[in-house]
Amino acid sequence: MSERRRALVTGLTGQDGSYLAEFLLGKGYEVFGLVRRSSMPRLERVQGILGEVQIVYGDLIDQSSLQRVMGDCRPHEIYNLAAQSFVPTSFAEPVLTAEVTALGATRMLEAMRHVCPEARFYQASSSEMFGAVRETPQNELTPFVPQSPYGLSKLYAHWATVQHREAYGVFACSGILFNHESPRRGEEFVTRKIAKAAARISRGLQEVLYLGNLDARRDWGFAGDYVRAMWLMLQADEAADFVIATGETNSVRDFCSRAFERVGLRWEDHVETQEALIRPLEVDLLVGDASLAEERLGWEPTITFEGLVEMMVDAELAKLDASE
Ligand code: NAP
Ligand code: GDD
Repeated sequence: MSERRRALVTGLTGQDGSYLAEFLLGKGYEVFGLVRRSSMPRLERVQGILGEVQIVYGDLIDQSSLQRVMGDCRPHEIYNLAAQSFVPTSFAEPVLTAEVTALGATRMLEAMRHVCPEARFYQASSSEMFGAVRETPQNELTPFVPQSPYGLSKLYAHWATVQHREAYGVFACSGILFNHESPRRGEEFVTRKIAKAAARISRGLQEVLYLGNLDARRDWGFAGDYVRAMWLMLQADEAADFVIATGETNSVRDFCSRAFERVGLRWEDHVETQEALIRPLEVDLLVGDASLAEERLGWEPTITFEGLVEMMVDAELAKLDASE
């Protein structure tokens, strides 16, 4: 009988970690989820799989914890999803962001190289690295011009992944993922903030939604589709880097319009802009070309922009119904 595959997922408690763990369990993997010690670990997103996933404690800031965990789990596949992932926080806490998001990836790669060099490694890279984009749509060859300490940190982690592959021959892939959302998205990110406010305003629980730049355009997909792409990258014959995106771009204003339409309201009557929510530097336009992933991995998104907005608003309405 063949040995059960073992996967180590950092960032288990985040949006993607929860979807990926569910996906891997469905494929029969033994899943180890790295959780950092806190007085109150945030396990809401993984409540449904707590009996199946094995929680291991460690922190991307602590090299020895990562080596210990890898030695204990002996993973075949490692998915490094942990990061300080919120762009505004990266302006407020640039050194912490670099410690976790940039150096944390190097710590993971070094731990793997020394403890389990045969494992396959996935790094959660980001379209935020394209920043002030030099071409549209963006693909694997588009130059990187990061516009935030977060983008800069992800770029360091991206090149650390590429260098480990080239220097030491480890199987390491960097997935350059465009924005992906879901009802489990953190509440500070714009899509969840809009979906939640639209639902609450429609029920008379809130009056105004304050937002920053309404003109920014993003390529928004569904997180469930994107974790499948992560797994596909680690099943390929050769390690490589892939853009994962829908190929469609919409503005924050478009997202508002759809979300409020879903609850029978006009967004213009409820949204106000606030100077404090404007970033010191902005990424104006992101839209990805995922044709390499389609060709080599057979990956395609299944959820449209309209479907995503509806899914997120409907989930917020259902939550309000359940709490009544
Ligand atoms: P998320 O919801 O913010 O989750 C981040 C995870 O990292 C959380 O589980 C968090 O744990 C963990 N973490 C933070 N600092 C840590 C540390 N020092 N040690 C160990 N764990 C730590 O992010 P996400 O949306 O799921 O995204 C997953 C990854 O993909 C991130 O690296 C993100 O930067 C990247 N990415 C996301 C997108 C997107 O659109 N979602 C696009 C491109 C790339 P706590 O629960 O303890 O805070
Ligand atoms: N968060 C937030 N809150 N964003 C706002 C707001 C607001 O009130 N108003 C306008 N925006 C604009 C931001 O200025 C940005 O242009 C856009 O909405 C999207 O912001 P976020 O949802 O915070 O996501 P992000 O694009 O900055 O970063 C996300 O995507 C990256 C991939 O490109 C994060 O998930 C990153 O971790 C990820 O790497």
